[in-house]
Amino acid sequence: MFEGIIRMFKEKDGFVSGEEMSRRLGITRAAIWKKMKALREKGYVIEGSTAKGYRLIKTPEFSVEELKILVKGDLGKEIIFRESLDSTNTLAMELAEKGIPHGTVVIANRQLKGRGRLGRTWFSPPKGNIYMSVIVRPEIEPKDATMLTIMSAVSCARAVRNSTRNESFPTGLEVNIKWPNDLMVSERKLGGILTEMKSDQDRIVFAVIGIGINVNASLDAFPSDVRAVAASVIEELRKGKGIKGDSPEISRTLIIAAILNELERWFKVLIKGGRIQLINEWKKLSSTLGRKVKVVSGKDTFSGIAEDIDDEGMLMLRLPSGGLKKISAGDVIMLR
Ligand code: BTN
Repeated sequence: MFEGIIRMFKEKDGFVSGEEMSRRLGITRAAIWKKMKALREKGYVIEGSTAKGYRLIKTPEFSVEELKILVKGDLGKEIIFRESLDSTNTLAMELAEKGIPHGTVVIANRQLKGRGRLGRTWFSPPKGNIYMSVIVRPEIEPKDATMLTIMSAVSCARAVRNSTRNESFPTGLEVNIKWPNDLMVSERKLGGILTEMKSDQDRIVFAVIGIGINVNASLDAFPSDVRAVAASVIEELRKGKGIKGDSPEISRTLIIAAILNELERWFKVLIKGGRIQLINEWKKLSSTLGRKVKVVSGKDTFSGIAEDIDDEGMLMLRLPSGGLKKISAGDVIMLR
């Protein structure tokens, strides 16, 4: 119902009479009044005029109704929103196990037990960061699972670049990918992706793509070790003077919609066998290739030049000895 009202406002871009709303939604004028009250409580600014009806002035920084309108494909058609939970990935894995359809997305305002790669925690305070998990049921073999990670990193980097584009930032934030899937800006970590899955011998049953991006939360609230290496969209835009002083919050709705629409596009590319196209896009966005790096992979540490990624998404490291080392998982530290 709320979605229908927001759609009407967006179609008209002006006043919508109470009479028209009541006719199109099949509810009384008194019921419309109650819906307007509820929308205002959710953070929508709606002007009301006895003569002209209602007009939408401002949408909140995050709104499920608006997100559903902006999402173009299957990914994001169903959205499960929670104010607070342990981890969107944990809930998404449970729901996927119970058979929830491909494309369902779990979003939360905060996580109490946010999880990062390699068993780490993901600091997930409230106030405007992105914590989301997308359930996909891709028809690909388990050996190609790394491609889901590549696809997700490409989609998120492109989405943040495009959705932060404005007059002051004609290209948007310059988000890059540090292998395998850290979202970086100015060499600091803006976001991360945790892909988890269930597979049997020859197929992936489902995968959950968990995305965490620092958008509005103040980095001052972060633990000092995280703050030392982290970035957030709002602080980057402030630095670049894209927005000034006590700026309004950045819309999570627009960023999440852009992520889901990019994921939809690149998921189709992947399913249709466009692995090379995806890898090429990843390479364009990479901040790792060509750099001298140290890679910590399990108990081992290797240093060398990050030469390439292969067509399975493995990092190819040129060692000082001249040999080439293929690495499937680990942490990259940039040396110069
Ligand atoms: C990383 O370590 O870089 C990956 C971080 C992934 C964090 C996201 S936040 C939403 C989803 N739920 C989680 O518990 N983790 C992922």
